[in-house]
Amino acid sequence: MARVFSGIQPTGTLHLGNYLGAIRNWGRLQNDYPCLFCIVDMHAITVPQDPSVLRQNTREVAAGLMAAGVDVRNHVLFNQSAVPGHAQLAWIFNCVARLGWLSRMTQFKEKAGKNRENASVGLYAYPNLMAADILLYKATHVPVGEDQKQHLELARDIAQKFNNDYGVAFFPLPEPVIMTIAPRVMSLRDGTKKMSKSDPSDYARLNLTDDADTMALKIRKAKTDPAPLPDSSEDLKARPEADNLLGIYAALADLSREEALARHAGRQFSAFKEDLTELLVSVLAPINAALRRFLADPGYIDSVLRTGAEQASALARPILTEVSDIVGFLRP
Ligand code: TYM
Repeated sequence: MARVFSGIQPTGTLHLGNYLGAIRNWGRLQNDYPCLFCIVDMHAITVPQDPSVLRQNTREVAAGLMAAGVDVRNHVLFNQSAVPGHAQLAWIFNCVARLGWLSRMTQFKEKAGKNRENASVGLYAYPNLMAADILLYKATHVPVGEDQKQHLELARDIAQKFNNDYGVAFFPLPEPVIMTIAPRVMSLRDGTKKMSKSDPSDYARLNLTDDADTMALKIRKAKTDPAPLPDSSEDLKARPEADNLLGIYAALADLSREEALARHAGRQFSAFKEDLTELLVSVLAPINAALRRFLADPGYIDSVLRTGAEQASALARPILTEVSDIVGFLRP
């Protein structure tokens, strides 16, 4: 049976990269598949977090997801730590995945930086927990941005090795679902770096919590170059900041890059930025308003997450029981 699973870390406010790369796609897949969406607080603590900020961010991300279209009446939204099966299956996967596989993960290398010896074991084993998130529900489709593709390949390797090691056809091999137009939204200050929650400059990203004036200011200040927009996307390859803004415009307008260029070829960036701001505000302002409404009622957010955790646990329980039997755990 087809099932969608995706996750997001509660490590800061949601930004346009999360929205265009992943969350918008989540909303669209809800029409065709049963979906589980998970706020991965256990992944968040692989690097230090302030406990009260983590709790608040978890509620904020839940509010942002509902505001951006996650339909909690028909699908499941929950936080990872509320379903212990994630940690249980992750342990089993720690024993399936090989050290060599994890050592190749570029996200670990980036996040651990030079001082690798001092990185947490959790940061290293992060992809095993991610595989557990997905496979605990035997999910088949995983909508993510391009930066998660390598982790998804690892999840497939783990599923395959588990099946081979135990001689079963138990786990499906989950497929990434990646948006083709904005799979990688880049920083507004440096077109070679991805837009990220952890960028020290708030001008590098557009947050779903930004009001219209802040968005306009950030787009005005976004780095570009003096040349006008070309008429083919080939000519944007060497202009990362220009390419990024065009990609954002195309994704927001639901156009291909070529179609977006056909509209704007020959124009200066100052004029293009005005159109981009208008489009951005028209898409994000309603999300921003809904997010604020949800945030004003934390009791409601908690009740949604509680219900979601119960539904997720009910789906996970029989799968985890079967895994325990396959592995040979005694259930006294
Ligand atoms: P996270 O929290 O970094 O990001 C959440 C989602 O947003 C996408 N994304 C982007 N897409 C395009 N451009 C960007 N600049 C950009 N920044 C982020 C990410 O690709 C992701 O889809 N490890 C995951 C969370 C996770 C998960 C899972 C995902 C845990 N378990 C199971 C899928 C399935 C992460 O850190 O995402």
